[in-house]
Amino acid sequence: MKKDFKDVSMAVIRRLPKYHRLLKELMEKDVARISSKELSGMIGFTASQIRQDLNCFGGFGQQGYGYDVGELYNEISRILGLTSHYNTIIIGAGNLGQAIANYSNFEKKGFHIMALFEKNPRLIGLQIRDIPVLDVDDLESYCQGKNIEIGVICTNKESAQDVADTLVKLPVKAIWNFAPADIHVPDSIVLENVHLSDSLYIISYLLKIQEQDKE
Ligand code: NAI
Repeated sequence: MKKDFKDVSMAVIRRLPKYHRLLKELMEKDVARISSKELSGMIGFTASQIRQDLNCFGGFGQQGYGYDVGELYNEISRILGLTSHYNTIIIGAGNLGQAIANYSNFEKKGFHIMALFEKNPRLIGLQIRDIPVLDVDDLESYCQGKNIEIGVICTNKESAQDVADTLVKLPVKAIWNFAPADIHVPDSIVLENVHLSDSLYIISYLLKIQEQDKE
């Protein structure tokens, strides 16, 4: 029977990539099993939080044994949908668009970047790895019949809403937006806004606290 996790809170879902990353590291170190207490020491969540999180999906651990690292990694991959394949395009082939296209690990996780789309003639025609930078005017014709699932917005913020509207019309199923713009899309479209600065500002805060403690 296909399990349905729609009722699991997004707060729990947002912790799953962290578990996934940690379990991958443990697998690389040939660690076969781990307790929630040991996981807690590494990940910074309490052991009870970890057990609660994983119980939302049926609980994979065994009392007195802990979690089978490989099994849990595979389960979390499956829950996150990382066993699927997603046709992906990037709009805006500047610094960030090119950096994302250059990062081959997304490919390994099933995010197949098919093309970048640009309006700047100096960038159109480039290849990032083997990914072509195409004219944004050809976006709609290129995407016809290709089942593009994810559109990544890497344009400047002024263009972001227009680009989002175009992606919605294609249609894509999800938008990964890096532009610092408050874009609006229909509820049926998955929208994830990324702000690297949020993480950077936390560094700034923690450095400030460290300095205050020294005073
Ligand atoms: P960039 O200026 O190097 O690249 C933007 C590219 O988008 C340019 O090549 C431009 O020609 C293209 N473009 C603009 N409008 C377009 C359209 N309608 N169709 C196709 N291409 C179009 O800028 P960079 O450094 O790559 O940053 C891209 C965006 O990401 C910016 O909005 C920036 O503020 C944002 N950013 C966000 C971060 C985050 O954490 N969310 C981190 C870094 C940048």
